[in-house]
Amino acid sequence: MKPEEILKEIAEQTAVCTRCKLHHSRKNAVPGSGNPHASVMFIGEGPGFHENEQGLPFVGAAGQFLDELLTEAGLTREDVFITNVVKCRPPGNRDPQEDELEACKPFLERQIAAINPDVIVTLGRISMGYFINNGRISAIHGRSFWSGGRMAVPMYHPAAALHQPSLRDVVKEDFAKLPAYIKQAQDTRKNNTDLVLPTQEDPEEERDEGNAQQLSLF
Ligand code: URA
Repeated sequence: MKPEEILKEIAEQTAVCTRCKLHHSRKNAVPGSGNPHASVMFIGEGPGFHENEQGLPFVGAAGQFLDELLTEAGLTREDVFITNVVKCRPPGNRDPQEDELEACKPFLERQIAAINPDVIVTLGRISMGYFINNGRISAIHGRSFWSGGRMAVPMYHPAAALHQPSLRDVVKEDFAKLPAYIKQAQDTRKNNTDLVLPTQEDPEEERDEGNAQQLSLF
């Protein structure tokens, strides 16, 4: 199956999914949107009010800031794929719970496998936890890790910068690094077809910075 066909199938499945309790308050599932052949995939936390209304990711205030950040990196929504770790809105925008994350994980895994991105940008703490173990976002944001044969770059969630204006410039600086990371990830993957990839992080340094460890979940 082509990536676009797999993504369409996932979208149809999430629309009728009853694997977790989030379906009770679902108006629209938000499977994700963008380029099925994207080199970069952005993974947020979960749909909010506006996303639940429209069935599209990051269309509220955080989404507007994300658009600005994409521009900062020379990217558009058409270049990338944007999704979340859970595809249905947690009531009141609470954090997704463990059983909800677990129930939704196969959708995310299939999306990643279908799109096969070079770089995964995690937006916020919860999404970061899928790829990097024991990392503190304040210590490792904007840095690159290898996880499951791809580059993972943890970033602050755009909503965090809206609530904490001092983070705005930090997030912008992190996004500005993306073009170089994309090039580096593409080059490295081209030259490592077996996907056993080098770590870029010095373990000593990692210990100093929140015990970040790379995971190979995907
Ligand atoms: N916050 C998220 O994490 N995802 C969205 O789609 C919107 C807001």
